[in-house]
Amino acid sequence: MIKIQIPATSANLGAGFDALGLALNYYNYVNIEEADKIIIESLDGTAVPTDASNLVYDTAHILYDICGRKLNGLKIQQINNIPMARGLGSSSACIIAGLVGANQLLGEPMGLDDLVNLSAQIEGHPDNTAPALLGGIVTAVFDGKCVHWVKQEVYTTLKFVVVIPDFELKTEKARACLPKEISHKDAVYNLSRAALFSASLLTGKYENLRTAVHDRLHQPYRMELIPHGRDVFDTAYSLGAYAAYLSGAGPSLMAIVDADNEYFVGKLRFALDKMGLSDWEVHELHIDNIGTRIIN
Ligand code: HSE
Repeated sequence: MIKIQIPATSANLGAGFDALGLALNYYNYVNIEEADKIIIESLDGTAVPTDASNLVYDTAHILYDICGRKLNGLKIQQINNIPMARGLGSSSACIIAGLVGANQLLGEPMGLDDLVNLSAQIEGHPDNTAPALLGGIVTAVFDGKCVHWVKQEVYTTLKFVVVIPDFELKTEKARACLPKEISHKDAVYNLSRAALFSASLLTGKYENLRTAVHDRLHQPYRMELIPHGRDVFDTAYSLGAYAAYLSGAGPSLMAIVDADNEYFVGKLRFALDKMGLSDWEVHELHIDNIGTRIIN
C-alpha cells in the first residue's frame, strides 16, 4: 500500500491570480494499491464518491491510460482534512494524490515536471496543484500545455491564520463572476503587487505584504459572494495582521500574522463569535516547504 500525505494550498496570494500559491501544514492522506475492482473508503467519514468518478481514482486512471497500462481497479483510502470547495486546494490534493499514487504503483515512469504539467492540465491552473506537489511558494506560468515554475522554500515564523466559512464556494462560480477584460492600468496594478508579494515574503519585508495582497482581478468581485468577508479582513488588520487576502477562489480568508502576535487567533475567534460566525473555523497554519510525500 502506498501512503501519501498531501498539503493544503493557498493560491493567488492576493494579486498573483493563477500564478502564485503556497503549501500549508494541513494535510489530506491517501492510501492506494492496485485491486481487482474499485474499492474506495473514507477513513474519516467525509463523504466521497466511491465509484470511478472519485477524483483520486479518476486521476490515477488518467496516468495508467497515458502509460498504456490497464487498470482493473484500485483500493483507495482517504482522510480528507482539507475542507472541500473552501479555497484550500482540496481538488488539487486529490489530483496530486491520484498522480503520485499511480506513478508509484507504475514504477515512477513520470518525472516531477511531468507531474506538475499533468496536474495543471487536469485542474486547469497551476497555482494550487504545483505547490501541493512541490511545497514552499511556487511561481507558475501555465501555457496551456506546460508549467514553467519556480519553487522557493520560505523560512519564516509567520503564521497563516485561515478563517474557513461554513459554506462552500465552487471555483466555477467564483470564476464566473470575474470580468472578461481589465484595463492596462489594472494589469500593472496587479503584476507589480504579485511580484512584490513573493519578493517581500522571501526577504522578510513583511510591511509590504498589505500593499502586495491588493488586487483588481478577482477579490473585489469574489468578496461580494462572501457575506462578512470584509468584516473579517477589517478585524484581522485591527488585530495587527500584516495582510489579509482571499485564499484561492475563496471563501476562506487568510491573515498573515507575525509570530510575536501571540493572541491573534484567540482574539479573532472571539471577534467572529461576536459577529455571529461561531460556525466559521479558525486554524493557525505554517508554510510547508516539502509538499507531497510518501509516508510509511
Ligand atoms: N487561481 C484559481 C482561482 C485558484 O482563483 O480561480 C482556484 O483554483
